[in-house]
Amino acid sequence: MFSLFIHAWTNSLILFFICDLQGNFTDFALFRLLKAGFLIRMHSLPYMYLAGVVNSFDLNRKGISMGRRALIVGNWKMNGLIEITRGLAGDILAGLTNREKKRMMCEVVICPPFTGLYNLSEFLAGSALKLGGQNMSEYTAGAHTGEISGIMLRNVGCWYVLLGHSERRADNFEDNDQVGRKTAAALRDGLVPIVCLGETLEEREQSRTLEVIEAQLSAVLSEFSASKGKSHQLVLAYEPVWAIGTGKNATPEQVQEVHAFIRKLLADALGAEFADKIRILYGGSVKPDNAEKLFRLDDVDGGLIGGASLNASDFLAIIDAYPNNL
Ligand code: PGA
Repeated sequence: MFSLFIHAWTNSLILFFICDLQGNFTDFALFRLLKAGFLIRMHSLPYMYLAGVVNSFDLNRKGISMGRRALIVGNWKMNGLIEITRGLAGDILAGLTNREKKRMMCEVVICPPFTGLYNLSEFLAGSALKLGGQNMSEYTAGAHTGEISGIMLRNVGCWYVLLGHSERRADNFEDNDQVGRKTAAALRDGLVPIVCLGETLEEREQSRTLEVIEAQLSAVLSEFSASKGKSHQLVLAYEPVWAIGTGKNATPEQVQEVHAFIRKLLADALGAEFADKIRILYGGSVKPDNAEKLFRLDDVDGGLIGGASLNASDFLAIIDAYPNNL
């Protein structure tokens, strides 16, 4: 019995470290370690066998065998005074806490306005709900009135930062090169950039979608490679501009075509094995009733959710729609 104990414990530790080295899976690995602990307490061979079967099934879950844990991100945009952001985050956290008791394959992040971050970082400290910023400066500090640096975002508890959202490209004239420089700055400051890519309706109608995506991505990849980033340090989000906040959906075929194209560009630039581990989210009018069919696509590893993330029950329903989530 003692040897069984040691066997299971060593296996789970090895798994933990392998996953941890891969960078993506600390939480996931911890979950498996705890599960192994539970099985050890069962003290019997059939349970050990069952653990093996369950574990191999786990690793074949969507994306996981590629080393990609699903990510669902709420982009609250310029919405929410302190009391409102606190209430909304509290409702989402309560829903997640109930789900954690079952099983959650997704990592969940909210990106409130800057003004809500400090308050929320104290409220969410140590919880399953992580924080991201909606933008950051390419500079570290200094005479840049009105800007917020990556270090400042880290300081208020952010793990992630959205970069190159189409609203910033349109309203603030951010171009591909600047988004690339911000990507390098985020990596330098210890944040995971979620870089948004997407074509306008006009560009799609002119059949320029893939060309536009390629130009946007290559500016990011040159900085990413130069920074020697690891696969878990970059997330991409395909958001067709014409589908954002409009209620218009890209069809699953359109989404998969672009996601597969992004994965191919990543493979060409970084190698197939590396590219397989980078998460690519879809965003643009994702709602509880269309989330599942988008999330089921091979190269969709989660979602960037705008309007629907401002309603806790809709956001939680979208999280539940991720295949194999519960
Ligand atoms: P939407 O926004 O879900 O409201 O379309 C998505 C986004 O802008 O990130």
